[in-house]
Amino acid sequence: MAWHLSVQVDRDSAVPLTTQLQNAIKVRIEDRVLQPGVRLPSSRQLAQDLRLSRSVVVEAYEQLIAEGYLDAVRGSGTRVTRKLTEGGGYAPLLDSRPAAQSRWDLRVGIANLSNFPRQEWLNSYTKVLQNVGREGMDYPPVAGIAELRNELAGYLGRVRSVHTEPGQVMVTAGFAQGLALLSDSLKRLGIHELAIEEPGHNGQRRFILDTGMTPVPVPVDDEGLVVEALERTGARAVLVTPAHQFPTGVMLSPARRARLLAWARERDGWIIEDDYDGEFWFEPGGRPAALQEGDPERVVYAGTTSKVLVPGLRLGWLAIPPRLYPLLERVRSRQDQGSDTLTQLAFAELMRSGLLDRHLRRVRSRYRSRREALAAAVRESLPEARLSGCAAGLHSYAVLPPGTDEAAVVHGALRRSVLVRGGQQFRFGGPPGPPALILGYGSLPLTGIAEAVAAIGEAYEEARRT
Ligand SMILES: Cc1ncc(COP(=O)(O)O)c(C=O)c1O
Repeated sequence: MAWHLSVQVDRDSAVPLTTQLQNAIKVRIEDRVLQPGVRLPSSRQLAQDLRLSRSVVVEAYEQLIAEGYLDAVRGSGTRVTRKLTEGGGYAPLLDSRPAAQSRWDLRVGIANLSNFPRQEWLNSYTKVLQNVGREGMDYPPVAGIAELRNELAGYLGRVRSVHTEPGQVMVTAGFAQGLALLSDSLKRLGIHELAIEEPGHNGQRRFILDTGMTPVPVPVDDEGLVVEALERTGARAVLVTPAHQFPTGVMLSPARRARLLAWARERDGWIIEDDYDGEFWFEPGGRPAALQEGDPERVVYAGTTSKVLVPGLRLGWLAIPPRLYPLLERVRSRQDQGSDTLTQLAFAELMRSGLLDRHLRRVRSRYRSRREALAAAVRESLPEARLSGCAAGLHSYAVLPPGTDEAAVVHGALRRSVLVRGGQQFRFGGPPGPPALILGYGSLPLTGIAEAVAAIGEAYEEARRT
């Protein structure tokens, strides 16, 4: 097999050819253009392709093997080392890296593959492929195809009381892209600080930093974001999770909602509403409307399929205030040429046909049973913990009694093969919060919940004794 490698050398350069080749390969490995495990051409082949003497390539390969960039395995050629990049690359926005071997994984943001409606997705996709015309195979509008934006505007109004129109909706690669677009747009408006909730999402905080914005932590209490503290920061933009604060699960109280909206008006500010698990509401009666309903001129509403379906689809949406829309569209058009049309069409079909609603009803009832099993298991095995955030979403927040060594509980649980995050991981250096655990149950089988919480209970008792 003649494997091909795309590198170039400059014969006129003063840098020796071996060094050039070595550096070119090294840079591609470090940038992860050449992925771990990828096979390189034989030295003979590469020498021939680049019209170099074979000894130049042999020497470059040998040096890279000595430095640990490449592995030469007898019978299977030369490959990029796997070890080098372990744990490297960019951390995902969310905590969904593969776990060290553990029996139960209670981290949030872990995809539940068994809930993905494979057959319905396949049917929608097949239908799309059977009917798609020329325009469906062409470049899509950057903000998304009309079919999906129409469906989304209708769905968001119906399910989350979002006030929007298809022309104000933008389809994104999940909330991650939405946040990157919003950061870039706010910077163009001269806004360089983005207030965020503390405790909150550390991955998101780092992501915001990487976009060149300064995240400004604002405390959260039992009523959600402390708007008074936000007022003192001087920030003109804030990112909030009003429906189910991440990670405490608190819902923003009506009084705070009103005050936050008043803040935006008085400050001429912007609110980004991250409604990451807005579809999962378990209490009787309807779910409170999205914050966006209170001021569609100042709130950017963001939703995603990451919880509803799976994060791997990379599909999300923004409902954008009219004043901000043209800027976001311009910023987006500099970033990419829109989202994959076929996926958009398939998702639009899933919505149009009612299959998404049916899927949601089905998984909501599965998650409700898990939520109840979790509450029962906590009452049984961790009775001193105070659970909050159970009304919605796919995780609950367990506050442990003051003085509990949170890290010892987390380590004790891991020794018992249970992976759970402690509350301190979601703090950004402000005053430490109460000892707490974030109990994600979205990807746990119903039968595993009692066992996982029992192990955490043992770890808690052990930590109390020592
Ligand atoms: C707080 C929070 N925001 C947003 C998201 C979704 O991000 P994305 O749509 O990029 O997967 C998640 C997880 O799904 C989350 O936990």
